[in-house]
Amino acid sequence: MENKIRTIGVLTSGGDAPGMNAAIRAVVRTALHSGIKVKGIVRGYQGLLEEDIIDMDGSSVSDIIQRGGTVLYTARCPEFVKSEVQDRGAEICKKHGIDGLVVIGGDGSFKGAAALAKRGVNTVAVPGTIDLDIACTDYSIGFDTAVNTAMETIDKVRDTSTSHERCSIIEVMGRLAGHIALWCGIANGAEDVLTVERYDYDEEHIIKNIIERRKQGKRHYIIINAEGVGDSNGMAKRIEAATGMETRATIIGYAQRGGNPTAMDRVYASTMGTKAVDLLIAGASNRVIAYKNGQFIDYDIQEALAMSKDIDGYMYDMSIRLSR
Ligand code: ADP
Ligand code: F6P
Repeated sequence: MENKIRTIGVLTSGGDAPGMNAAIRAVVRTALHSGIKVKGIVRGYQGLLEEDIIDMDGSSVSDIIQRGGTVLYTARCPEFVKSEVQDRGAEICKKHGIDGLVVIGGDGSFKGAAALAKRGVNTVAVPGTIDLDIACTDYSIGFDTAVNTAMETIDKVRDTSTSHERCSIIEVMGRLAGHIALWCGIANGAEDVLTVERYDYDEEHIIKNIIERRKQGKRHYIIINAEGVGDSNGMAKRIEAATGMETRATIIGYAQRGGNPTAMDRVYASTMGTKAVDLLIAGASNRVIAYKNGQFIDYDIQEALAMSKDIDGYMYDMSIRLSR
């Protein structure tokens, strides 16, 4: 198809994720390689509305592939749900000559991307979130780095937990999704994994398990708790009171969203950014890049948003079998 795109805009939106910089770099360099101008939209849809838009060249993305966060900054822009505000967003794109747009973010950001596509701005979305909760894709930018950061931290907590013969409740990110918790549960060999998707809030069951396992000679106990389940400090107090085992809670928090991206996040994010520009050049709009069954593919954004996702049932069952 004929290359009609002259200027591609790129923005990051929602929670930042390590690897977003690699995706931005790929968008900029791929577009420039095809003779297309690039404009960086600073702070997501908020920056678009404020016309905080900068010209980008090859050197604007030098020395960023290895850095966490996003050089374009990110923001949440609640008013972008309004139709009249989306109209304004599309007009601003047109005013700045942006005829192709790459949106890097999560499900919420995809809805904004679809709204702009509907208003005539050719838009392709790229999944960026550490939570891995985007239904259409098996990979999202940042998850691999986040889960490795959490895993390394949990290994460290385990050392002190073992030395003091304690129970440790370690809370990982994931307000609505337990993928990080489940992966850490397996990677760190935890005794229990609590996820929003599966936890039945039967604390008595956890307490019984701890008491039983201590009788069998277990000297420390690791529970990975997803942010969405929460209440790690309260849980620690109740478990200590009921079991007599010293119990401490550790909430890892935002450390999981930062740090140098892993090789996987750099390479996959670069691939997704490149594919997004390839799609725009091919004349596509309202698409989202996904990684499914070992391949990079793309979906219609509405089709992608209508999909649902659960944690992997086999992995969850395995985490239970391997912890006994
Ligand atoms: P994420 O993209 O990581 O899911 P959010 O849900 O916070 O993060 O969404 C990021 C931004 O996307 C929001 O601040 C808002 O600007 C935009 N957005 C979210 N939902 C919608 C919607 N229904 N329509 C248009 N834009 C939306
Ligand atoms: O990036 C995803 C995520 O880390 C969620 O797990 C978490 O609930 C959310 O972002 C919190 O983000 P913020 O505090 O920036 O709103």
